[in-house]
Amino acid sequence: MKTTVLSLKNISKIFETEELETHALKAVSLNINKGDYISISGPSGCGKSTLLSIMGLLDTATSGEYFIEGSNVSELSLDQAAEVRNAKIGFIFQSFNLIDELSVFDNVALPLRYHSDKPSSVAIKERVTQCLEKVGLSHRVSHKPNQLSGGQQQRVAIARALVANPAILLVDEPTGNLDSKSGDQIMELLEQLNKSGTTICMVTHDPRYADMATSKVQLLDGSVLQARLSQIAV
Ligand SMILES: Nc1ncnc2c1ncn2[C@@H]1O[C@H](COP(=O)(O)OP(=O)(O)OP(=O)(O)O)[C@@H](O)[C@H]1O
Ligand SMILES: [Mg+2]
Repeated sequence: MKTTVLSLKNISKIFETEELETHALKAVSLNINKGDYISISGPSGCGKSTLLSIMGLLDTATSGEYFIEGSNVSELSLDQAAEVRNAKIGFIFQSFNLIDELSVFDNVALPLRYHSDKPSSVAIKERVTQCLEKVGLSHRVSHKPNQLSGGQQQRVAIARALVANPAILLVDEPTGNLDSKSGDQIMELLEQLNKSGTTICMVTHDPRYADMATSKVQLLDGSVLQARLSQIAV
């Protein structure tokens, strides 16, 4: 039987300022199962990043319910949300978001050092080494991010996202800052990670990359326009 990792039920998001109300998401419902690779695409401003931020507990919905591995996470305090986020979610962004002052090793180790049950330094070393091997960067452990190519920096970000063994990787335009060859290599790596069991939800503008996912979701004006495959409830 398939295990549900994330479940969004009628999620809406309204951004309000004094003069303006933006309905960024309108009753979005989506299930993501263990082992899925979902791509989310749609025009600029349709709500992709807003949806990913809510999925990653970086933002909250205005209405609707959200479950991670069966637990209702719609109304957590900031501290509780941070704890669930650290334990369950791995993020990969367009802009890598690495810390320039830290080595590759220390960037990847960071989530473990902030983990609620922090592993021993031997266990951290083992896990970081394993994740750097997965992304093909074992030979760059002591480098600083600015001594790496863009594609290599994104690989470090992927190793960091994997290190705490999250339930899902949330990926927002991972190739946006890369040339097409490095972009293709990152997409191959994500595909390989999914084949070895990692659950992935990725936002992309590029139809070629969207097609690499096993299910595609199209957003338009904050609504799910089209979802392929039966496990996605619309
Ligand atoms: N903090 C905010 N305050 C007000 N409006 C916002 C905020 N964040 C996003 N929006 C609005 O919500 C809508 C969805 O934005 P979002 O960033 O999710 O789009 P997107 O699909 O990721 O676009 P892109 O492809 O350009 O990254 C847009 O109309 C945007 O202007
Ligand atoms: Mg966006």
